[in-house]
Amino acid sequence: MNKKRTGMKMSISSDKEVAKRVKALLKKMSLEEKIGQLNQVGGADFAPGPKAEDQIRKGGAGSVLWLNDTKRFNELQKIAVEESPSGIPLLFALDVIHGYHTIFPVPLAMASSWDPNVPEKSQTVAAKEARAAGLHWTFGPMLDICRDARWGRIVEGAGEDPYLGAAMAAAQVRGFQGNDISNPERMLACAKHFAGYGYSDGGRDYDPVYLSETQLRNIVLPPFKAAVKAGVATFMSAYMDLNDVPASGNRWLLRQVLRKEWGFGGFVVSDAFAVANMVIQGHARDRLDAALRGIKAGLNMDMSSYTYTEGMVKLVKNGLLKVSEIEELVRPILALKIKMGLFENPYVDEGLLEKVIALPEHRQISRWSAQRSMVLLRNEGGLLPLSKDLKNVAVIGPLADSMEATEGSWMVFGHKPAVVTVLQGIRAKLPGAQVTYSPGPEIRRDIPSWFESMMAGEVRKPAQSPEEAEAAFQAALETARAADQVIMVLGETDLMAGEAASRASLDLPGRQEELLKAVAALGKPVVLVLLNGRPLSVNWAAEHIPAILEAWEPGTEGGHAVADILFGDVNPGGKLPVSFPRKGSHAPLYYARNLTHSPEGSPMYNPRYWDGLPVPLYPFGYGLSYTTFEFSNLKVSKSKVKVGKSVTVSVDVTNTGKVTGDEVAQLYIHQKWGTDTRPMRELKGFERITLQPRETKKVTFRLGPDELQYWSTNAGKWIQDATEFDIWVGADSTATLHADLKVVN
Ligand code: NOJ
Repeated sequence: MNKKRTGMKMSISSDKEVAKRVKALLKKMSLEEKIGQLNQVGGADFAPGPKAEDQIRKGGAGSVLWLNDTKRFNELQKIAVEESPSGIPLLFALDVIHGYHTIFPVPLAMASSWDPNVPEKSQTVAAKEARAAGLHWTFGPMLDICRDARWGRIVEGAGEDPYLGAAMAAAQVRGFQGNDISNPERMLACAKHFAGYGYSDGGRDYDPVYLSETQLRNIVLPPFKAAVKAGVATFMSAYMDLNDVPASGNRWLLRQVLRKEWGFGGFVVSDAFAVANMVIQGHARDRLDAALRGIKAGLNMDMSSYTYTEGMVKLVKNGLLKVSEIEELVRPILALKIKMGLFENPYVDEGLLEKVIALPEHRQISRWSAQRSMVLLRNEGGLLPLSKDLKNVAVIGPLADSMEATEGSWMVFGHKPAVVTVLQGIRAKLPGAQVTYSPGPEIRRDIPSWFESMMAGEVRKPAQSPEEAEAAFQAALETARAADQVIMVLGETDLMAGEAASRASLDLPGRQEELLKAVAALGKPVVLVLLNGRPLSVNWAAEHIPAILEAWEPGTEGGHAVADILFGDVNPGGKLPVSFPRKGSHAPLYYARNLTHSPEGSPMYNPRYWDGLPVPLYPFGYGLSYTTFEFSNLKVSKSKVKVGKSVTVSVDVTNTGKVTGDEVAQLYIHQKWGTDTRPMRELKGFERITLQPRETKKVTFRLGPDELQYWSTNAGKWIQDATEFDIWVGADSTATLHADLKVVN
């Protein structure tokens, strides 16, 4: 790995020493063993293939995934180290997306904190727990920019914006890996899915993606580039066709952009079965052809499709592949194993995990992350925070006591929820009150997910009959009627967002909105808490329910964090990392659009649809607080700057309310004209700050070539124009405080 570019500290050995050790290893390895290093063996029943032990024993495996069993890790490692011909240790890999045992808010929620410390600290704990379990490598962070909330995997990323996405990407890499990959409390990170997966047609998971180079370079790739800069050790290629070439066989992405332009020196693994999938996708003729395409594209490791182990020897014999091409792919895998210290310490202490997961600070960090991730969407009349003197509170809704919805999607195999639900959190906060609970009608997907049975080993419960659902509806109304204050907990279950969890509508599923309306009609004060992994079009609630808290899928301490906010122990300060559309059919919807010839406000303005304006219900960057803030005194250090030079932009933020709170100062730019048309607004700086009542702080941003340049279609390269810019700083993407900047040659 290129030390200079990655910033990763090599405490075990210098790059030169590592290269020497790699060379010596390659010298003693047979061709089959070299190919074996490129093979990732599936350790779960759903992954067909030869027996893991047999592959490992003959040196036919470089890594094992889909296994979460500390004892078994040691058993398999022993076979690799002691029985395989060259004794090369295995890398154990798993999706540790937002926690191993202690679960943190889902990544979309962590991005809502607009505080890179949140993902960094959370992923540090995730790495420590996962390493204690014997894992070396996680398949995260997921860096797919997504502007279509219908796509289920929006929950795994940082939302719609490349600037925020890049900040969250680097923070997660720092969290997982630290700055020394030989540290036994850190793990290898994996930037995925390279690239464009968040742009699938219609938001339909796995569907093809068409993106111009301009969109790729300006929007999709920046978080990946930031991950490389932060030293990410590995990449994962995406499943889908990118401009008619599957990402796993995409030379331009894997060789030109990733290695040549960015200098990435780690290795790339395919997504699951993705090499062989190139046959199904109609790209490769057969499995042999698929293997060849993967290798030629620079894809180092085949995730469990066994095309590499099956075909590579043949390809060498046929003269289609040189051994040196295989060695080129093996080298970074061996180098990382050496740098991690796996040759010296291949095993995990089987008693460690119990001690590590019991550390109280893990739950504390989880609660802190959840508190910082939540977004207050509405608070009419200052209904929130609620009084702790309330005596009779009803908590209502199918997610109010759901462990799964609180933790969210992507649990590691065999994970047993140890989570505080919203109901439990509220009960803990109000020990002297009567807190009643009624779930109302159940919610479920119309079409079940195969993850439902695979991940949790669950058998689907039979659906509620219409009569049972009606009885549950009436029971919930009764519970609400008897209370002084109602807290509704609505949204989506864990399996309604995530992989294979796209949907066409963004409405509250099932009878939830009907129940919300019926409860609101009782005339009681109602607070709505949303648990969900994607933006929801809660239009009715946004007009009629006075207080709405977007809690996302907040993790192990989620219920406590919700109660902390509802009852005023914590003042919410999160901001939306994604626009909330009013309808699923408005997607893709995002703030950084280009101006048209008929912009809103112009005399000849034509609404984009005649059946409802596609303006977001809540804009990007939006979020309220229990206090108020004012932005003033916006200053640009110079009104004119030369191309390539920087200015500073400063603004005063004042807490004008009565309680301490957090505000996120957000800087947006608009290039007024130039070689290409640029978006009407682009985020180019942000900072979350805490202010006491009446306190003012100055926030300063740097605006220079990194922020002002872009990839130009007209020029076919990165350029910075001599032009003029609008600059806004404020509390969200509709900020009005404005300044001008001229850029000259
Ligand atoms: C498929 C998913 O697309 C990817 O995100 C995940 O890391 C792999 N499976 C491994 O579980």
